[in-house]
Amino acid sequence: MRIVLLGAPGSGKGTQSKLLVEKYKIPQISTGDLLRAAVSAGTELGKKAKTTMDAGQLVSDDIVLGMIQERLTKPDAKAGFILDGFPRNLAQAEALDAMLAAIGRSLDAILFFDLPDDVALERMHGRARAEGRADDTPEAIAKRLAIYHEQTVPVVEHYRTSGKLVPLHAGRTVEDVFAEIQAALDTVGAR
Ligand code: AP5
Repeated sequence: MRIVLLGAPGSGKGTQSKLLVEKYKIPQISTGDLLRAAVSAGTELGKKAKTTMDAGQLVSDDIVLGMIQERLTKPDAKAGFILDGFPRNLAQAEALDAMLAAIGRSLDAILFFDLPDDVALERMHGRARAEGRADDTPEAIAKRLAIYHEQTVPVVEHYRTSGKLVPLHAGRTVEDVFAEIQAALDTVGAR
């Protein structure tokens, strides 16, 4: 199963990814987590990405695409993967299409976490109080949401035309959203 999780910051992609990993035994590939790991490890890539991430802006496509290309070729991604937070703009979506086409594969489903901005904002402010993530400052949160509308919403439209977009009611409880995802993926599995 090859799945993309698409949605605003704070829409629950990371939360649902963890549940999907457990259920389907395929890896979560989160570009945000990979970048945060590089920042913590103090690598050259991490140093380059940190300021951009803390400001709530997108890291450059060449950095992100290099990371994804490398990660997708690891053995554990052979049977499938959950892409969380990638692709995030049209250039990344087109690059992913090309990467998969080159190995004769395609995506099975694109899960779109549909959530009003005010709920996403509330969740991120809640997480800022609980965890203090470096980019959960009020300024970076506003920037991330603006970039989502500007650059990631066109990706939703890109996938809508593929017929594989699965819109989710992401404002429901964690359990309800997961049940909705499982029902959708059961249908995909049956295709
Ligand atoms: P990334 O790590 O991808 O962050 P994000 O997209 O901003 O997403 P979040 O982690 O904020 O939200 P989420 O949807 O995972 O929600 P979560 O489950 O945590 O990216 C960070 C940065 O890295 C970017 O700004 C950029 O700089 C860079 N980056 C990453 N990918 C990139 C790319 N492809 N290209 C370029 N740059 C890239 O939930 C949020 C909160 O809500 C949690 O507290 C959770 O407990 C709670 N919650 C979750 N579900 C529910 C629910 N159903 N009900 C109530 N609360 C819930």
